[in-house]
Amino acid sequence: MSKTFPPSPEIAKNAHIDSAKYDAMYAASIADPDAFWHEQGQRVDWIKPFTKVKDVNYNFGDVSINWYSDGTLNVSANCIDRHLETRGDKTAIIFEPDDPNEPAQHISYKQLSTSVNKMANILEELGVRKGDRVVLYMPMIPEAAYAMLACARIGAIHSIVFAGFSPDALGTRINGSDAKVLITADYAPRGGKATPLKSNADQALLHCKDSVKCLVVKRTGGQTTWTEGRDFDYNELVLEASDVCAPAEMSAEDPLFVLYTSGSTGMPKGVVHTTGGYLVYASMTHEMVFDYKENDIFWCTADVGWVTGHSYIVYGPLANGATTVMFEGVPTYPDASRFWQVCEKHSVNQFYTAPTALRALMGQGNDFVTKCDLSSLRILGTVGEPINPEAWNWYNEIVGQGRCPIVDTWWQTETGGHLMTPLPGAHAMKPGSAMKPFFGIEPVILDPQTGIEITTNPAEGVLCIKDSWPGQMRTVWEDHERFQQTYFSDYKGYYFTGDGAKRDEDGDYWITGRVDDVINVSGHRMGTAEVESALVAHSKVAEAAVVGFPHDIKGQGIYCYVTLMNGEEPSEELRKELRTWVRTEIGPIASPDFIQWAPGLPKTRSGKIMRRILRKIAENDTGSLGDTSTLADPSVVEDLIANRAGA
Ligand code: WT7
Repeated sequence: MSKTFPPSPEIAKNAHIDSAKYDAMYAASIADPDAFWHEQGQRVDWIKPFTKVKDVNYNFGDVSINWYSDGTLNVSANCIDRHLETRGDKTAIIFEPDDPNEPAQHISYKQLSTSVNKMANILEELGVRKGDRVVLYMPMIPEAAYAMLACARIGAIHSIVFAGFSPDALGTRINGSDAKVLITADYAPRGGKATPLKSNADQALLHCKDSVKCLVVKRTGGQTTWTEGRDFDYNELVLEASDVCAPAEMSAEDPLFVLYTSGSTGMPKGVVHTTGGYLVYASMTHEMVFDYKENDIFWCTADVGWVTGHSYIVYGPLANGATTVMFEGVPTYPDASRFWQVCEKHSVNQFYTAPTALRALMGQGNDFVTKCDLSSLRILGTVGEPINPEAWNWYNEIVGQGRCPIVDTWWQTETGGHLMTPLPGAHAMKPGSAMKPFFGIEPVILDPQTGIEITTNPAEGVLCIKDSWPGQMRTVWEDHERFQQTYFSDYKGYYFTGDGAKRDEDGDYWITGRVDDVINVSGHRMGTAEVESALVAHSKVAEAAVVGFPHDIKGQGIYCYVTLMNGEEPSEELRKELRTWVRTEIGPIASPDFIQWAPGLPKTRSGKIMRRILRKIAENDTGSLGDTSTLADPSVVEDLIANRAGA
């Protein structure tokens, strides 16, 4: 039995959801989803109220997911206009710049309204219409949120590309959704350095249609090159733009955004989220999981380039009329105290970050934390990867001073919001456990071979979800076939998460990690296939196989086996060249940790690479390679073991 940490009586007493309420509400949500979600649907303002709640088919071949489908609404009106009367002067966004000496900005709901309306009008002037796609490639500045909400206001679909991605990756995503406009900034300051976003955008646009326009926000004022007729200066246009733009009436199932994410095979897919259900789910989870109350200051340290930023920096908090912190920088700049200084400076109540950041900060010593006044903190959260007990304990004792519940939120780009997590006032936490399903979520553990549900405890297997929830993705952008194949074909009648999980004697859930060829590097999800295809695109590479291995800080690192073309010689120089190559093809987050030269790869007689073996070698766990008798040439394994890269 692992040690449990019950919430303090004070937290439990004041929380929205205590243990008894969780049990009752959860039971009701499963017994009668229509009634439950009908009631929760009231948390957003509808232009035309819905009469239908849920209309879902999980049968392979006919998968379709609809929520509130005859209702109409506008997301930006829900995140802004409806708060103006009562919260007009309340701070919507606190912007904390990369440089701590640059003043923070407090943007009120009224000011947010003005900026979003202006941005919406600018987009319309650039020709953007309802249903058109707009790509954002932005620093973590308020204009990123304005742009998201401006798209939502006019019914355009945004697709955010994380500013750490390379020009190539950006170009592919602009073309992938056939975007009309790209919104970017001159530079993105981060950790004292500035990424030249506009120059990256220029390179990306070389591979896109001539008609794509580029709207540029001035962040640093640094030098950029300008293409007349294609590039537009936001800071100039905003001076003239009207601050009145009527919100478009959108159907609940109109797409709100596309967000590319990595899968086990092929190139990243465009995850499509829609308007009504997504907003209901983001708003509800933000309020209940973080026990959000009216005057709280909420800080999620993610980037808006990831789904966490979409749901818990922008849409969830703003739908709830909250004050949300947008931080441009990194946890270690100017030093390892930055997160905690920002918590003190803005009296943050809820703090939500990734285990990888905690592991990196933990190693720097406790003084960086304890010298700050963290008495405002009430709830802590983690997301993105399993948290190891050491990091959990450090978070609990040093950051939370033993008084803040930690919500370990398990979810995915596909799920729109949290699916499993302890609730702060309801559950005794166990370090490393995602604990309990959120309302309406029915997790099941299946035997990976037979696909049969394991109903007893303890259980271990693949994690699927039985039924739909409003925040679920609806399709893969222009590829519904791939959507069905990826999530509904292996285990018929369920949503397949790609994760493995255990359920302990108490019925609490523990995520054990991906069961497919997806790896998680510093909380960033990556398909090994993507890194492989970047490597083989290099003229000297014949073949490549990429696997993850355990990494102290990053969670998982990237280990590459590379077979060179005939006649090419391995060298340190070539190793460096390949590393740089992958960074340019995908971005710095895909940088290989190790590259091992592999004269041959372990393959079955039918030519399938046996990744299981490659994973074991990368982990340096070569004592238990398992059955190698099906290999076409078992001797390659000996060579790979003998020439293992790294420590
Ligand atoms: C994958 C989803 C959801 C926002 C950030 C990542 C892993 C996520 C946890 C957690 C253990 C976690 C899973 C999941 N993951 N949260 N609390 N504990 N693992 O979104 O990029 O779509 O990645 O991240 O493996 O499938 P994403």
